[in-house]
Amino acid sequence: MADLGSYGLKREELFLTTKLSPADQGKGNCKKAILDAVKKLQVAYIDLVLIHWPGSSKLAHDDPKNAERRKGSWEDLEELHSEGIVKSIGVSNYTIRHLEEMINAQNGYAKIKPVVNQVEVHPLFFDKELIDFCSKNSIVVQAYSSLGAADGWPVLAENATLKQVASKYSKSVAQILLKWALQHNLCIIPKTSKVENLKLNFDLFNFELSNEDMVAIDALNKNKKFCWDPSTIC
Ligand SMILES: NC(=O)c1ccc[n+]([C@@H]2O[C@H](COP(=O)([O-])OP(=O)(O)OC[C@H]3O[C@@H](n4cnc5c(N)ncnc54)[C@H](OP(=O)(O)O)[C@@H]3O)[C@@H](O)[C@H]2O)c1
Repeated sequence: MADLGSYGLKREELFLTTKLSPADQGKGNCKKAILDAVKKLQVAYIDLVLIHWPGSSKLAHDDPKNAERRKGSWEDLEELHSEGIVKSIGVSNYTIRHLEEMINAQNGYAKIKPVVNQVEVHPLFFDKELIDFCSKNSIVVQAYSSLGAADGWPVLAENATLKQVASKYSKSVAQILLKWALQHNLCIIPKTSKVENLKLNFDLFNFELSNEDMVAIDALNKNKKFCWDPSTIC
C-alpha cells in the first residue's frame, strides 16, 4: 500500500477492514497473518478483521479440525484486539451453528463476541433465521452480494417484481435492492467498477420502500445462493 499521506489521507480518516484467509486459519497462523498485513499496509492498527470462512484450506468440510482451527484463530484475534492492533473483530460466512459454538452462554469459547457476520443476502437468498439470530445477539449483519454478485446480478436485474417496484419509485433495480437491505437494518458493501454506479449506490436516502413492497420483495426468497455455502463445514 502506498503512503496514505501521498493521497492527502490521514489514518483516522480511513476505516480499514481485512479478512483472515482460510489458508491462515489456526492458533499462531492467524496472528502471524494479521501482523504481516499490518506491516504491509504500513499502519499501526486495522479497524476490523473478519475470519473469512469457518473452514480451513486443504481440510475436508467434515474434518473436526475446522472447528479447532477457527477457535484458535478467534483466540489470536482476541489477543490482537487486547493489544490494540485490531480495533474490532468479526466473522464471515458463519451459520447459526458456527456462531453458537462461539457465543453460547454455557460453553461458548469467545471472550469477545463477534461484532460483524458478513454473509450473502439478497432477495433470492434471505436467511431470516440467521439475521434474527445475529440481531438478538447484537451482531451486525454485513450483507455481501446485495446485487447478486457477477452471476446473480443479471438474474435480479430482470426480476419482474423488482423491475415493477423500481419503476414505481423511479429508481433502478440496484437501488431497490440496496434500499431493501438497508430497511432490513443490514450493512451493505456493494461493489462496482463504475463511477456512475457508485454515485447511484449512494443515492438511497431520498425515498422509503412501503411495507407492502418490502413484503413483496421478501417473498422472492428461494434460498438461492450465488456464492459459496458454509453450512457443511463442521
Ligand atoms: N465474505 C465473503 O465471502 C464475500 C463473498 C463475495 C463478496 N464479498 C464482498 O462483497 C462485496 C460486494 O461484492 P459482490 O461481488 O458480491 O458484488 P455485488 O455488490 O453484488 O455487485 C454485483 C455487480 O453489480 C454491478 N453493480 C454495482 N452497482 C450497480 C448499479 N448501481 N447498477 C448496476 N449494476 C451495478 C457491479 O458491476 P459494475 O462494476 O459493472 O458496476 C458488480 O459486479 C465486495 O467487497 C466483496 O469483496 C465477500
